[in-house]
Amino acid sequence: MALGGESRIAARCANRPRVVLSNVPAGPAIYRVGFWADAEASVGFIWSKESVTERCHSDVATVAKPEVGSGPAARVAVIFGASGGIGGALVEAIQTAESFEHVVAFSRSSSPSIDLLDETSLERATAYAATLGELRLVIDATGFLHDDRHRPEKTWRQLDADSLARSFALNAIGPALIMKHVLPRLPQSGKAVFATLSARVGSIGDNRLGGWYSYRASKAALNQLVRTAAVELARRSPDAICIALHPGTVATALSAPFAAEGLKVHSPATAAQHLLAVIDRLSADANGCFFDWRGQPVPW
Ligand SMILES: NC(=O)c1ccc[n+]([C@@H]2O[C@H](COP(=O)([O-])OP(=O)(O)OC[C@H]3O[C@@H](n4cnc5c(N)ncnc54)[C@H](OP(=O)(O)O)[C@@H]3O)[C@@H](O)[C@H]2O)c1
Repeated sequence: MALGGESRIAARCANRPRVVLSNVPAGPAIYRVGFWADAEASVGFIWSKESVTERCHSDVATVAKPEVGSGPAARVAVIFGASGGIGGALVEAIQTAESFEHVVAFSRSSSPSIDLLDETSLERATAYAATLGELRLVIDATGFLHDDRHRPEKTWRQLDADSLARSFALNAIGPALIMKHVLPRLPQSGKAVFATLSARVGSIGDNRLGGWYSYRASKAALNQLVRTAAVELARRSPDAICIALHPGTVATALSAPFAAEGLKVHSPATAAQHLLAVIDRLSADANGCFFDWRGQPVPW
């Protein structure tokens, strides 16, 4: 799924009469959406009153209807990696739910663009989003598994310094730098969520199959970075939540070469609904946790 240029966004928005596309010449791809919530929306983002009762043990069985806050500041949702399969679906789902005044979609082809290998671009983009209002939801949907030169390892014989370094740069260091610039900009009170897409295969406790050394290890590193940042975040913004999410197996370019028969695979749109439902049900005691798409905790 490609989502980057404003023309593409305009084409998408054309089918949604209630969404007004903001024409911001030098800004990133932005949807300005109504300040009300759609009572029939299947996904709510304005924090259900039901909360996760036990730390790291949420069970998202139903999707709450959205509620709308009424503070003076505009509510902003930001997606990093909006050009990806899941990232694009998240942008679309958040836009459709109309719970945020601004939905900002950053990718390597947005304006301003982001590149995980360029910290300045991450800082610039985050600063831009923060000028629009309060960052109440930020999702990092970037990630890397394979490209023309790098494939997941089946054996230690395939371990390669370049592959390891690339995986760590894109799956751990890049998201860490996003956290560096996003977390201090989250509001100091009231619910705000930073979620990064990790992967169950990054779980050390759940590793029974082996293989995929670079991807697994870089996601494990990401998980530790999330957990560590969550501790610091709690001191500054006690209502804020910093989590890692496993989206399930989702039909995207990332997973396509590894599709296996009998595997439960979600569409990006379904995955986005699941992830947003999990986020909707979280309360502050979920800070620093790792959940799957059902809201079940994943062992570290
Ligand atoms: N799909 C699954 O089954 C699955 C399962 C478990 C976890 N996940 C995780 O979910 C996340 C999203 O995966 P996906 O399936 O949506 O993958 P995807 O379609 O390949 O999207 C990956 C995203 O990461 C971006 N990205 C890669 N390198 C970048 C860089 N240097 N700078 C900025 N952005 C960069 C891509 O941007 P470009 O479009 O510019 O390349 C794209 O937006 C990943 O973290 C992945 O590990 C996915």
